[in-house]
Amino acid sequence: MTRINRANAAVAMGCLALLCLAGPAPVAAQDKQRPAEVDRGAVIAAQGAAGVPACAQCHAFSGGSDGSGAFPRIAGQSAYYLEKQMRDFASSVRANAIMTPIAKALPPNDTTDVAAFYAGNSGQFLPLAAADAALVEKGRQLARVGDAAKNIQACNNCHGPDGAGIPPAIPYLAGQYAQYIAFELQMWKRGHRKSSPDSMALVAKQLDDQQIAAVAAYYQQVRGAASAAASTR
Ligand code: HEC
Ligand code: HEC
Repeated sequence: MTRINRANAAVAMGCLALLCLAGPAPVAAQDKQRPAEVDRGAVIAAQGAAGVPACAQCHAFSGGSDGSGAFPRIAGQSAYYLEKQMRDFASSVRANAIMTPIAKALPPNDTTDVAAFYAGNSGQFLPLAAADAALVEKGRQLARVGDAAKNIQACNNCHGPDGAGIPPAIPYLAGQYAQYIAFELQMWKRGHRKSSPDSMALVAKQLDDQQIAAVAAYYQQVRGAASAAASTR
């Protein structure tokens, strides 16, 4: 009992310390009680807010971003996931020269609103060059079966059938840009993305460069639940 109580106290103190460091966080926590305003989110996506540039500049108004693969699709990810990533950028759990300053500057209510807006968007799928068929097949194996020799479980165990995602916490990979997927796996391998230490960090460290290229190529060409949603709009 006492041990549990002490552990709880330690957690509570940790949170207090974080709130102190974050400064305006207690107010933010209060503000977050208000429900998301999707229309306001659309304005932030199109025009920016609080000195932050319009998200549409890089992610497109649709959330489908552009075909370069430098910017992830954010359309149709859960609002919970999108908001969590913004918090991770702000706290440098995810360090990124572009997104960290944006996430830090955007007020919490605006973050909630813009996350809700993009979560509700289907985002267009751009025509992209087809990847090498053998590479895609290798990626499919990894996604569906894993790699027993390396003790890597199937990605789809967590990311859902064909990488459709399991909201709220697990993002879809189906239709995500290969270049972005590969980049994020490298970020985990190198310790620059510190979220999901017990799952993604371990998985990514097991993957070699060829497996990363394969699984990224595979998911880019899957048009699972995300595309089904897109085609009905
Ligand atoms: C100047 C370009 C640029 C602008 C403007 C921009 N982003 Fe990003 N965004 C990026 C890049 C690059 C990444 C990938 C970062 C990484 O690899 O860690 C990213 C990643 C993200 C992610 C993580 C997605 C995922 O799948 O984990 C979210 C969420 C996001 N941006 C939301 C926003 C929102 C909301 C806005 C507007 C307030 C915005 N971005 C404006 C370039 C931009
Ligand atoms: C044990 C569960 C689990 C397994 C297995 C798993 N993932 Fe993940 N994955 C997660 C979670 C949880 C997240 C969200 C992390 C976060 O919040 O930042 C994630 C996020 C990701 C992202 C980031 C997506 C984005 O939009 O930024 C990529 C890429 C990814 N996983 C690829 C893979 C691949 C490839 C495999 C298989 C080789 C795999 N995952 C296996 C749990 C898992």
